[in-house]
Amino acid sequence: MSVISTQLVDDLKGTALASIAGATSLEELDAKRVELLGKKGRFTSLLKELGSLEPESRKSFGALLNSVKSEIEGSLDARKSALGSESIQRRLETEWIDVTLPVQAPVVIASPGALHPLLTVQRDLEQIFHGLGFTVVDGPEMEREYYNFEALNIPNTHPARDMQDTFWTKDGNLLRTHTSTMQVRSLERMKPPLKIVAPGRVFRYERVDATHGHTFYQMEGMMVDRHVSVGHLIYFMKTLLREIFGSEQKIRLRPGYFPFVEPGFELDIWFQGRWLELLPCGLVHPKVLEFGGIDPAEWQGFAFGLGLSRLVMSRYQIHDIRHMDGGDLRFLRQFS
Ligand code: PHE
Repeated sequence: MSVISTQLVDDLKGTALASIAGATSLEELDAKRVELLGKKGRFTSLLKELGSLEPESRKSFGALLNSVKSEIEGSLDARKSALGSESIQRRLETEWIDVTLPVQAPVVIASPGALHPLLTVQRDLEQIFHGLGFTVVDGPEMEREYYNFEALNIPNTHPARDMQDTFWTKDGNLLRTHTSTMQVRSLERMKPPLKIVAPGRVFRYERVDATHGHTFYQMEGMMVDRHVSVGHLIYFMKTLLREIFGSEQKIRLRPGYFPFVEPGFELDIWFQGRWLELLPCGLVHPKVLEFGGIDPAEWQGFAFGLGLSRLVMSRYQIHDIRHMDGGDLRFLRQFS
């Protein structure tokens, strides 16, 4: 016995269309499609019943069901595209960016950096010497044995070489042990009278600890002119120290031995209750002038080798020389 009736088809169509219209998402709509038109869907089971009808009514109900089916399909399609554009609309609303807004300032990840205390002090000194008529010169860190030793009156067999052991390259060059290399280099290039300072990095083969580094900084100074005496040397050293420390400094000169000066001194300053060995110096040895092509009968000079690293350490109360080239940001940031 047939259960199909026009009323039944009408009811099904009514509820189907209403439920399709009420679907609020594509997933929900798809579930409704299965519920109606799927293999076990409500509409499908109705179609299956056609077979049990009389040929006449089968024909008319068949036509009716087909038109209702295409109506349901049409409404599914319409709802689908409506929901699709709704979701696009939603995305457009939530994901938009306004490309006309001014850009935000970039996030600063690291501070822009600052000068290393060594360079700060070096520049201060250059400024001071510049004011005193000195020229700032620069030279190689990898050096010929000649400029580091020979030309400074330290021949191959001289015991003073042991005090300044360094790193040698296979072809016989070395990392300079002091900035005194710039004495003869400058004499060769510049004719007297001359006044130079040469700041820079020097190297020694050292057992490294808090006060000994394999790499440190010096500033060489040299003046060559007529009638230069120890008086000139003391005058310039006192002026320098007054500029650095901001007031007159108590100093003392001790004899010091360096093969390239005669007489040679250690200049100490009274610093925080003790003598600080800061400035080895002396009058340029006649042999050094000769190596530089200068006649020692006509010209004399003084030279000094300021311990730049040591000066920086006492100025900023740094107690371990390894901080100076350690690259530790916690150390470096204190100077920014
Ligand atoms: N070059 C010497 C050193 O490094 C220092 C020095 C320089 C001494 C100039 C006298 C004159 O130890």
